[in-house]
Amino acid sequence: MVADYTDSQSYDRHLYAQDIRASQAHARMLGRQGILTEAEAAELVDGLETVRREIEEGRFVWKRELEDVHMNIEARLTELIGETGKKLHTGRSRNDQVGLTFRLYVADALKAWQKDLSGLIEALAGQAASHQETLLPGLTHLQPAQPISLAHQLLAYCWMFIRDSARLSDCLKRVQTSPLGAAALAGTTYPLDPLSVAKDVGFKAIYDNSLDAVSDRDFVVEAQSCAALIMVHLSRLCEELILFANPNFGYLRLPDAYSTGSSIMPQKKNPDVCELMRGKSGRVFGHLLSILTVLKGLPLAYNRDLQEDKEGFLDSHTTITSSLTVMAGLMRELVFVPERMASACKSGFLNATELADYLVSLGHPFREAHHITGKAVAMAEALGLRLEELSLVQLQSLSADITESVYPVLDAACAVRRRETPGGTGPKSVERQLAKVRQWLAEN
Ligand code: ARG
Repeated sequence: MVADYTDSQSYDRHLYAQDIRASQAHARMLGRQGILTEAEAAELVDGLETVRREIEEGRFVWKRELEDVHMNIEARLTELIGETGKKLHTGRSRNDQVGLTFRLYVADALKAWQKDLSGLIEALAGQAASHQETLLPGLTHLQPAQPISLAHQLLAYCWMFIRDSARLSDCLKRVQTSPLGAAALAGTTYPLDPLSVAKDVGFKAIYDNSLDAVSDRDFVVEAQSCAALIMVHLSRLCEELILFANPNFGYLRLPDAYSTGSSIMPQKKNPDVCELMRGKSGRVFGHLLSILTVLKGLPLAYNRDLQEDKEGFLDSHTTITSSLTVMAGLMRELVFVPERMASACKSGFLNATELADYLVSLGHPFREAHHITGKAVAMAEALGLRLEELSLVQLQSLSADITESVYPVLDAACAVRRRETPGGTGPKSVERQLAKVRQWLAEN
């Protein structure tokens, strides 16, 4: 019962490649420092390579009584190469070993997320590029506000995911710090060279304090927090796709491969993939809160509580990589319906701001222009007309200085075209955004 309770090999075996990499670097350093002979170090490195092959070919026998991935690998190494295997752990503790192994795993995961983020950003930018002329109602409070281009809407998500990727780069700086050399908690008497181990595994720095080194899991909190924000952004995108796929909007058709039918209602095409992704954000947020709670109140230095840092991260890793890949595929195959968006632009008085701005151009103070426009909207609404369908006489009854020149201004395409402020929805501004996103993709 207790062995089951304390077991971690059932899941930390996923870290086998990183554990072997770290152990090989440690063995090479022991050889360089003359703590072991060069021949012994080489024997350890080769033996670990054999263990790796056994694991990858499914021939490795995992033993629960050996607790974790580290003990399983070391025990097998000793079975394979004999006495020298027992020297691998010289100057090392499982406390600093697990730290380095898990940091390597998290670093590999974050780099994979960055690749997947780039794939999604590319898919979003691809759709944006082919919908620069497509207009739809931009919403605030989920109410019709002003017309925007679909490219602009899609690019908004590109920037969220670009920030996510930048956050991962920042997080990686701290993940890639090696705790090896801290040993159990206080350092060791062997003449180790920890910085050379760090460099061997591709890290740039080592810890300055051995107690901090073996008990710091800030990097897991940071990584889980990056994961949580990625899920926030995916979930917002999903919510929007679900809404736009509803026939009352009808802005898009979900690819068949990414939607499901109903067992009872033949007409249904359900956005299950987007719903699941929106739902999966919950588990990732949970893992963030879970690691924060594990760390709170832990005395220095290593405590077994820290073993609880892994399962949540493994699950976040699976959730993030699958969600990003699935969303990229969906985004590439998504079919938008520009006609539906165009006709939606005709209702909701999306051009009310244009009329107000037009009145300002005639010399009215903005507040007054806003008031007159409000009256124009009320008049049109009462007559069942759009603003641009009011006659000049009707408009002039609200403000005598309105002329024919008002009508082109009320056109949705014109409203979009004129919004060329930096980051605005105007075509030149969107073109600049798209170029910047493509530049980012070329560099990342
Ligand atoms: N499986 C353990 C963990 O994940 C490894 C470290 C164990 N150290 C110890 N002193 N029991 O944290």
